[in-house]
Amino acid sequence: MKTVGSYPKTRLRRLRKSKWLRNLVSENNISNNDLVLPIFIREGKNKIEQIKSMPGVNRYSVDKLDTILNEVRKFKIPMVALFPYTPNNKKDDKGSEALNPNNLICRGLKVIKTKFPDIGVMCDVALDPYTSHGHDGIIIKNKIDNDETIKILVKQALLQAEMGCDIIAPSDMMDGRVGAIRKALDKKKFYDVSILSYAIKYASNFYGPFRDAVGSKSKLKKNKKTYQMDYRNKLESFREVGLDIKEGADLVMIKPGMFYLDIISNIKNKFNVPVIVYQVSGEYSLLKNAIRNKILSEDAMIESIISFKRSGASAIVTYFALEIAKKIKQIN
Ligand code: PBG
Repeated sequence: MKTVGSYPKTRLRRLRKSKWLRNLVSENNISNNDLVLPIFIREGKNKIEQIKSMPGVNRYSVDKLDTILNEVRKFKIPMVALFPYTPNNKKDDKGSEALNPNNLICRGLKVIKTKFPDIGVMCDVALDPYTSHGHDGIIIKNKIDNDETIKILVKQALLQAEMGCDIIAPSDMMDGRVGAIRKALDKKKFYDVSILSYAIKYASNFYGPFRDAVGSKSKLKKNKKTYQMDYRNKLESFREVGLDIKEGADLVMIKPGMFYLDIISNIKNKFNVPVIVYQVSGEYSLLKNAIRNKILSEDAMIESIISFKRSGASAIVTYFALEIAKKIKQIN
């Protein structure tokens, strides 16, 4: 790229002189269309319970989902992501509750698809909210068994599709699960159900508050490093995405977000596929606490989301989604 002119003829500050001009030349912006809101569902009736590790985020009983979905509709957020807080007595070593047609996710899907059919829904495919050991797969001979886990994940995905889920999001990091799920969906004629693969999911320290939110934190033995990615690696991320697209992924997720902007930018430049970024619970809680304690200005939240757009994200899954959508509405 050729630089045209230099100081004093060229002054880059000229285009920063007023708000309207900065707005005019801004290269990236966020809109409500870029946001996905995660929602935690719990058992019981008439319950809206604050999650301690995630200030400002609640768990809703199924009958109370309306309260948050009305907001999602009002502020025109295109999609929500559902996560269950499964009671301990429904957890076992195989995560059987994942296949119960009356589990929290299925009941949540029914509510949304009947009362809020205009809102898109994505559901995680993984066993960790349902297993007594907190892992995403089943344990055989002391290992998270890849191929046996896939068999269950395929059933979980089919159940979600039957209940009306629009976007199936495998977050388990087993090898080969995207291909297996696509094949099973097609066999049942779910041609229009998309797969958003968590293609790049690092074994991150920043999932802590989420694990607390779905109740798997205290259960988790050891860590997830035998299936989630090593955060020292970058080349591996190309291989992960390449394979998942070959297997039939329609969109890919990169996770976490803020510490992985290099990965987002690389993947965006290399593959022709929508890239979704997950600003995970640890990133959220850090920022949210700092904003609440007035250590950071509220604008830090917008800055963080814009950084994902600048890196190449099509959309961002974030616990800030509603707050941001409200703010955007105020501005416009
Ligand atoms: C479950 C799952 C996790 C997250 C999304 N799906 C946690 C994990 O893999 O341990 C993390 C989300 C967040 O931290 O906000 N497989």
